[in-house]
Amino acid sequence: MKVNGFAHPAPSDPRRLLSDHLRHDLGLTGTHVGCEHGVCGCCTVLLDGAPVRSCLMLAVQAEGHDVTTIEGLAPGGSQLHPVQQAFHECHGLQCGFCTPGFVMSVVGLLAQHPHPTEEQVDEGIAGNLCRCTGYASIRRAVTRAAVLLAPLTPDPSPLGGEGANPADRSSSGGEGAGTSP
Ligand code: FES
Ligand code: FES
Repeated sequence: MKVNGFAHPAPSDPRRLLSDHLRHDLGLTGTHVGCEHGVCGCCTVLLDGAPVRSCLMLAVQAEGHDVTTIEGLAPGGSQLHPVQQAFHECHGLQCGFCTPGFVMSVVGLLAQHPHPTEEQVDEGIAGNLCRCTGYASIRRAVTRAAVLLAPLTPDPSPLGGEGANPADRSSSGGEGAGTSP
């Protein structure tokens, strides 16, 4: 499998969970583990660009696929990924334990729906639990991320493509946008 663009051999134990393989064999501890049975979303990574729960997959099931973890979004750490930047600007995190999973889910959501409706935002983060607070700041961060990503996303139609939402393009990201915590 490839992890963050680099080829890695499969673990010798065929029962090794992908989450354990990433954290304990490859040292990619940005992938967090909470419930370990598919409920909390902390362990979300991208498999060929789509969000998956790494605690529900065996590492060998990722053979032949591209896995992206939170470490792969901003290699070297010199510049945040737009979704990370949006969470930072909109205060989309508190304790941060759930944040890598949210960020990976949102990257997958915005790849599928570059200009998501409110319903698509809610659906996109429905599988991630944050125990700290409500989801208002996280929703704002998703909207802000769509704005930040828009110049980087190819627009397939003259009218703005799937789910085009002019409000998204003009949004400033709401309260807190452009500020540091
Ligand atoms: S640790 Fe995988 S969903 Fe909770
Ligand atoms: S910030 Fe999500 S659980 Fe604390």
